[in-house]
Amino acid sequence: MYRAGILGAGTWGTALARLLSVNGSEVTVWSALENEVAEYSRTRRHPNLKGMIIPQAVVFTSDIKDACINKDIIIFAVPSVYTRATAKSAAPFIKDGQIIVDVAKGIEPETLMTLTELIQDEVSKYNSDIRLRMVALSGPTHAEEVALDLPTTIVSACEDMETAEFVQDIFMNTCMRVYTNPDVKGVELCGAMKNIVALAAGISNGLGYGDNARAALITRGMAEIKRLGVKMGCMERTFNGLAGIGDLIVTATSVHSRNNRAGLLIGKGLSPAEAVKEVGMVVEGMNALPAAMKLSRLYEVELPIIEAVNQIVNEGASPSEIVLKLMQRVKKNELSHQAVDYDIDM
Ligand SMILES: NC(=O)c1ccc[n+]([C@@H]2O[C@H](COP(=O)([O-])OP(=O)(O)OC[C@H]3O[C@@H](n4cnc5c(N)ncnc54)[C@H](O)[C@@H]3O)[C@@H](O)[C@H]2O)c1
Repeated sequence: MYRAGILGAGTWGTALARLLSVNGSEVTVWSALENEVAEYSRTRRHPNLKGMIIPQAVVFTSDIKDACINKDIIIFAVPSVYTRATAKSAAPFIKDGQIIVDVAKGIEPETLMTLTELIQDEVSKYNSDIRLRMVALSGPTHAEEVALDLPTTIVSACEDMETAEFVQDIFMNTCMRVYTNPDVKGVELCGAMKNIVALAAGISNGLGYGDNARAALITRGMAEIKRLGVKMGCMERTFNGLAGIGDLIVTATSVHSRNNRAGLLIGKGLSPAEAVKEVGMVVEGMNALPAAMKLSRLYEVELPIIEAVNQIVNEGASPSEIVLKLMQRVKKNELSHQAVDYDIDM
């Protein structure tokens, strides 16, 4: 039996708690919110995961120490804006050699660190000699479906294959198929950036545009993410995989996607703040925009769709005018940005 600590009792943390418990692990879930600990301990239900019962064996705690000490894995499942503060609180209880799995999606705007880098950074402020085994677990995995044991796939990314496989074994069952991948940065970049493209797809839908526009946004949006990732040293194949195009497809098309939903509301005329309020849960695509804009400048990579979303969300631009601008951009060859990767003579 493995012992797992989960930090964060949102929809994803709770859905994973059930999955790991069903897989035979001993699970302790920490929440920063006392009312969640009391409510979920009593009702064994999460309000956003209606059909799921949380097994009695899952323990909820408001003491982060209980979810960190003596664990085979510690899973960070808080929204990205809370990841650093959570790592700071957990740091005193994290041991040398600890396996830490981040399942949240984002990039810190100030430092441009991915979330595994950020956790490592914060924990080493407490203990500079500590060696952590960091894993990013990411893919097309809506909690609402995982909660119901619907077939799902995910990627366990770690440079150390033994650790990636250890995490693969803990999460894998007949409903959850886990693949390994050594490209942690690529997997994390995909997870953060695809949420912005999903916002774009939602906005397009809200404006009344159709499936053609959505397919274009998904395809050209992934071309942007891949262009940036390759420049940052990530592996191109990651962007064609589950954490890349797989996660983008589900986020840009699913009714469960809050990024897609927030975009839809913006496209229909709500302000970004009103859309977030209406969705009522974290909208990571909006949080990822400042980092995306900085990365675009730093690596000198053009990200037209992502920049268009930024103009709508952060600069008050009109969605329909922005679409017109995107459609009127200078003529391009579809493969021109890939010339370097594929060694094609353009
Ligand atoms: N929901 C999914 O289907 C899904 C799937 C894959 C990845 N993710 C990622 O996982 C992360 C969490 O998503 P979620 O859906 O669980 O979000 P959520 O909006 O359901 O999470 C809210 C939770 O954050 C925690 N929280 C609130 N305030 C906090 C604070 N001050 N400090 C620490 N924790 C606090 C609470 O436990 C709260 O329930 C996001 O980055 C998301 O992109 C979500």
